[in-house]
Amino acid sequence: MSATNCYGEQLGRGTHNLFILGDAIANLPRLIESYAGLIQTIYLDPPFQTGSRFTLRLQLSGHKQTPVAIPSYDDSLPAADYYTMMNEVLKGCYELLNDNGSLFLHIDPRTCAHLRIMLDGIFGEDNFVNEIIWHYKSGGRAKNHFSKKHDNILFYRKTKKAYFDISSIGIPRGKDMQNHMRRVTDEEGRVVYTIKSGGKTYTYSEDTPIYPSDVWTDISHLQQKDPERTGYDTQKPEALLKRIILSTSRPGDLVMDLFSGSGTTASAASKADRRFVAVDSSPIALSLLRRRLLSREQTLMDSELPGTLLLFDVAKPPKIGQLEYTCSRANGRADVTLASYTPSVGLDTPEVYTGLALVDYCALGFVDDGIFLPCSYNIRPLRGGTIPNLYLAPDKPNLALLVSDVFGCQGIISIE
Ligand SMILES: C[S@@+](CC[C@H](N)C(=O)[O-])C[C@H]1O[C@@H](n2cnc3c(N)ncnc32)[C@H](O)[C@@H]1O
Repeated sequence: MSATNCYGEQLGRGTHNLFILGDAIANLPRLIESYAGLIQTIYLDPPFQTGSRFTLRLQLSGHKQTPVAIPSYDDSLPAADYYTMMNEVLKGCYELLNDNGSLFLHIDPRTCAHLRIMLDGIFGEDNFVNEIIWHYKSGGRAKNHFSKKHDNILFYRKTKKAYFDISSIGIPRGKDMQNHMRRVTDEEGRVVYTIKSGGKTYTYSEDTPIYPSDVWTDISHLQQKDPERTGYDTQKPEALLKRIILSTSRPGDLVMDLFSGSGTTASAASKADRRFVAVDSSPIALSLLRRRLLSREQTLMDSELPGTLLLFDVAKPPKIGQLEYTCSRANGRADVTLASYTPSVGLDTPEVYTGLALVDYCALGFVDDGIFLPCSYNIRPLRGGTIPNLYLAPDKPNLALLVSDVFGCQGIISIE
């Protein structure tokens, strides 16, 4: 990673966002070089030692209505290797945070005790702030033990100077939160609720905010039909990240996630006007992040994702397959029509997915000084269907197509 990004900004201090497709540990030294002491909020949702293989479930054109499962990541590191990795990551996070900064480690009861002790060692017991219990109702009911219905989010601050603003995450009290209160109508005809405590009377309206405790019961898992859902198995709701980001950072601050997955942290950070630095080793994570950011950025000005730098860890570049297309040039305009795409990695039944069924994203533009500048782009409809096949650009030198497939493989194809 050079000292400046593609906009000439100094990494770590510029206004850009950054996504690195690569391994968190392998990228820690370069991240520390650029961002040590600059990150305000870190959220980590690492694998949980489940022993499971996770997938991205996609509705692809060509296969009736059955979603196709594409492998996304494997959560099967032996315990000793897992805790060695987490120790490296957490030590790196401590260096990356600024003195006002905070870390949130999202785990479940399987690894919570071990990682809490590890964090105490790295951040100091005094800097443990909360163990947040995220309680959800989804999933089945167990018969031979109590049903497991919560995740643990360990919240540590870097120092006593940590920034925390509970007022930014108030929830309207609403009708349902008036337990034990008396409902009365005030002089102005408004419905208010009163309660006596310690000889004093407290009065609340339905709009008076209440602030979350360390048990979060009001954020549910993403339902099957939730529009936020990307199909990534372990995707977390943006509402969780919104609460974490708003309470511990300010607009313009840097928010980091080293296990980005479907891009929930980056998406929530950019909606809250924070900048993000995200890393994930699954190529699918790059596709999903792009999709989530592009769905907000309807106009593309001077870059594929304005203000976002997408870096590949060169050790493992995902290989694009074979794209068939035609290009016609007339009256200063280039028209590119896509015909078919054959991926470099396979599904069990590739013959079913003909044409452009496996293309997730395509942009026509120019490569200028190593940077791809798109003129027209399209994303595959999330709930099935095929990407449109026609792309237009001015007829200038260095015309190229940037293509990403549903497996997360991406490449730039120059058009002669
Ligand atoms: C539980 S998921 C994160 C889900 C994410 N919070 C979301 O909302 O979509 C864990 C992620 O860690 C990634 N991962 C696992 N080991 C990694 C490593 N060593 N470096 C970087 N990413 C890794 C996986 O690819 C996976 O996307």
